[in-house]
Amino acid sequence: MAEARPAPDPAHDPTFAELIAGRPALSLDPASGLLVEEVPLARIAALHGTPTWVVSAGTLRRRYRALAGALAAAGLAASVHYAAKANDTLAVLRVLAAEGAGADVVSAGELRAAEAAGIPASRIVYSGVGKTRAELAAALAAGVMQINAESAEEVAMISEVAAATGHTAPVALRVNPDVDARTHAKITTGRAENKFGVAYAEAAALYARMAGMPGIRPAGLATHIGSQITSGMAAYRAAYARLADLARELLGRGLPVPRLDCGGGLGIPYRDEIPPTPEAFAGAIASTVGRLGLPVMVEPGRWIAGPAGFLLASVILEKRSGGRRFVVLDAAMNDLLRPALYDAWHGILPVSPARLSAPLSPAEVVGPVCETADTFARGRLLPAFGEGDLVLVCDAGAYGSVMSSTYNARPLAAQVLVEGARLALIRERQAEADLWRGQRIPDWLGG
Ligand code: LLP
Repeated sequence: MAEARPAPDPAHDPTFAELIAGRPALSLDPASGLLVEEVPLARIAALHGTPTWVVSAGTLRRRYRALAGALAAAGLAASVHYAAKANDTLAVLRVLAAEGAGADVVSAGELRAAEAAGIPASRIVYSGVGKTRAELAAALAAGVMQINAESAEEVAMISEVAAATGHTAPVALRVNPDVDARTHAKITTGRAENKFGVAYAEAAALYARMAGMPGIRPAGLATHIGSQITSGMAAYRAAYARLADLARELLGRGLPVPRLDCGGGLGIPYRDEIPPTPEAFAGAIASTVGRLGLPVMVEPGRWIAGPAGFLLASVILEKRSGGRRFVVLDAAMNDLLRPALYDAWHGILPVSPARLSAPLSPAEVVGPVCETADTFARGRLLPAFGEGDLVLVCDAGAYGSVMSSTYNARPLAAQVLVEGARLALIRERQAEADLWRGQRIPDWLGG
């Protein structure tokens, strides 16, 4: 996929009604406007201000269950390890912990967050291309279910850390299957040129060597070919078939292969994509690695959390310039980076009933940050807005709040959780004073 794509033709954008109908967390109340579950977004803005991330607990639960259910229905002994990087807010992790989810973590911070939220280490897999010795020691001390190693160099490091700390590390080898997941270049991970995993041709020999190394107990094989995969199941099937072949070879040599980690990556519809269903995903696993009869793991992030979250923002002003209309929001690229980084398309809805039914015209939807990249949408058909009007950015539950920064000294936005009619603040808006927390001005600078 090219990186600087032209804006898609707004004539083919989903309508407001289609956006709402496609997102079960949303509904429209003729009096109060858009609701998330049973809570009016206008109430959330009145209570907590904007910009605010809004997460639907019901959607998290429904999607976790749909995925776990599809895997079970395909006859797989599968465990679901939510990729905490998609949204690692403690309350979000707690909702999924209560559903029985495990976690896929990539840092000591995510490991601590998952544990703090009640996901036991025995259900946590530790992934990532570069784990420090300190992080490996923390993972072993916590007793994680599995560490996914991504290189011969890392396997050696794990062996040393485990031996030095008196642990036996359960290590799976992440294999790079060299398949093209046909997603955005910045989030494809399973090509040979990507930094991830062990080259397929080198994996069997490394696994055999690893099995004999001190402090290591082989835990199986893993793969992950990319994120926001919407192009059908062919790439998945190719990757899983290679994983199954490798597992067969290792088993044939008498090596233990206790389980197979099939990664994440299942896409969601942001605009008009038609991603594979959880049933198709489960079917691809069942027809490839499933044939081996081993336990399997999956690491979905976006599929579970993406459609469960929204970014609620206010219009600061509309400006007109050179025949164009710019809707300037109080949310910006420092909050939701995806449009700036990946040219990602996110649905944008007015919140009030009057605006939802008003005449539409094209607008550029932008934030206040001093970069042209701070653009949420180009040529988007929207009603005329006034100061203080609320807008909702859809499908922002995954890789939204977690990728925020304080660029332009903008505090991190608040985050709320909705469940039925219940509403709770799950992350306070960052205080301005906290923007400088930890900073010092050296004495010699005076003042
Ligand atoms: N497992 C591993 C090893 C991963 O690297 C990832 C995502 C996942 C699981 C979860 O993938 P998911 O099911 O969420 O697609 N910031 C980007 C996405 C980066 C994904 C990185 N790895 C975005 O906003 O689109």
